[in-house]
Amino acid sequence: MYRTKTCGELRIENVGEVVTLAGWVQRSRKMGGMTFIDLRDRYGITQLVFNQETDAPLCDRANKLGREYVIQVKGSVSERFSKNDKMPTGDIEIIVSELNVLNEALTPPFTIEEQTDGGDDLRMKYRYLDLRRECVRQNLELRHKFCIETRSFLDSLGFLEIETPVLVGSTPEGARDFIVPSRMNPGQFYALPQSPQTLKQLLMVAGMDKYFQIVKCFRDEDLRADRQPEFTQIDCEMSFVEQDDVIKTFEALTKHLFKTVRGIDLGEEPFLRMPWSEAMRRFGSDKPDMRFGMEFVELMDVLKGTGEFGVFNSAAYIGGICAKGCASYTRKQLDELTNFVKSPQIGAKGLVYARIQDDGTVKSSVDKFYTPEVLLRLKTAMQAEPGDLILIISGEEANRARKQLCELRLLMGSRLGLRDKNKFALLWVVDFPMFEWSDEEQRLMAMHHPFTSPKPEDIPLLDTDPAKVCANAYDMVCNGVEVGGGSIRIHDAVLQAKIFKILGFTPEKAQEQFGFLMNAFKYGAPPHGGLAYGLDRFVSLFAGLDSIRDCIAFPKNNSGRDVMLDAPSAVDKKQLDELQIALALRNQ
Ligand code: AMO
Repeated sequence: MYRTKTCGELRIENVGEVVTLAGWVQRSRKMGGMTFIDLRDRYGITQLVFNQETDAPLCDRANKLGREYVIQVKGSVSERFSKNDKMPTGDIEIIVSELNVLNEALTPPFTIEEQTDGGDDLRMKYRYLDLRRECVRQNLELRHKFCIETRSFLDSLGFLEIETPVLVGSTPEGARDFIVPSRMNPGQFYALPQSPQTLKQLLMVAGMDKYFQIVKCFRDEDLRADRQPEFTQIDCEMSFVEQDDVIKTFEALTKHLFKTVRGIDLGEEPFLRMPWSEAMRRFGSDKPDMRFGMEFVELMDVLKGTGEFGVFNSAAYIGGICAKGCASYTRKQLDELTNFVKSPQIGAKGLVYARIQDDGTVKSSVDKFYTPEVLLRLKTAMQAEPGDLILIISGEEANRARKQLCELRLLMGSRLGLRDKNKFALLWVVDFPMFEWSDEEQRLMAMHHPFTSPKPEDIPLLDTDPAKVCANAYDMVCNGVEVGGGSIRIHDAVLQAKIFKILGFTPEKAQEQFGFLMNAFKYGAPPHGGLAYGLDRFVSLFAGLDSIRDCIAFPKNNSGRDVMLDAPSAVDKKQLDELQIALALRNQ
């Protein structure tokens, strides 16, 4: 036996026992004739003691142990003279009688401590060392618990976990596909699934009734803190359901996860359901962070055409937020905010501000264009009080301006400490538009995906005004993060063909890409719907992380690289020849 106990389990009750432990040398300290070593494994840290006086050769060997050496020790559990109440094993130590070096170790390139001196790149390159740090390991433990609880809850409701293939054809979810060449079918490619969307729908046609899978999805899109090129979904689908059934089922799963994994009781109340148009109007976002207010006030009536300010007079939208107690912001702080909204990723033309002074008068950056009466009306509209700062953004395209104001609201929320990571605000955003216009593609695109059903009452609008059609779709939002999304699907081949047509597919192209699904619908497809949670996003919210990378064992960096494996990389000419692929890289 390598060990009889782990490094996390010995307590005062074990004093006197002879134990064998194995693990890594976290750190060692020499104090007089004594050497203390912290021995670490997944379960904790235990202090080892070597005494020069009682066993000089053993102590000499202990003094030669380097950081991260893998050792095995035998010794007796003893009560510590000076206890450490910060460590679960802090009452005891091991008086070592035998030491066995199982493996030496190079000095690690960064310290394996909670506060490490390793930068991001270095830690990713040596991710297996980074994972030894307790704070990182805890995230994986949390993720494990999350998965186990999900499985047991869905199992208790009769869901079947069914695997779907990874080498598939294209499954459109709005991103680019990763493709894999086929040796046996030269010149042809598989696509990795952006999600198992069509397959889970086929499982419903197959009569599986309730499906789920904790599954890898692959999307070649620009990366951000909450996006990875390969990520994991808790993917689900149910037959003979309406929107309300799906929402209720996954609300119950969410409450179960909060309770069992995070110890938070979300109570009996159903989550708020907010129509998409209301979310856009009040928060400029389809994933509003509801931990704080600072709601938008539309100011078109107050500021358009009521003064000489040309920008507002030509705006399609003028909206403001009121930052409580921020009237004392300095010129520099206001310039910072202006630069933020004008930065390329936000893209606003500028920022107008108005301070409410102690005497109740308003001092603004557009004073010269408006009479004091108009500015007082602004104050009233914003329900602002002395000491408040009003921030205003306008634009010629309403939803774009709203999104810019949303970014500013989030920034101000963070600055004012209103986005507490230990507070959770969940809601469903419902009634999404079916389509959105893409300037790039010059066509209507599916806002969710092409298999989403329109609201039954809006079906006639498909022929007359498709842009106005609402979808039977819903997103779950937590703290401003879209943690899940789903819809009731189309289960009728004729309606599905019509949607493909609106999305710009010719009947031939639709048949080529989705013939398998439309054909399946002809063989008795049940009404069905479902949802997928972004597992990485949910876990990182539970863990209070800034990036989903920290809850993924081996994540990619912002350029989609695995720096540890050095992937992607070039392949041998022989491999390309087998695939009958010749590279013709441009710009090289
Ligand atoms: P959707 O595309 O909304 O829906 O994805 C579901 C959830 O997956 C998460 N997610 C991501 N997480 C990390 N990195 C990414 N690149 C990434 N992209 C998405 C989000 C999102 O809410 N098939 C549909 C689901 C359905 O209709 O049932 C789908 O994939 O949390």
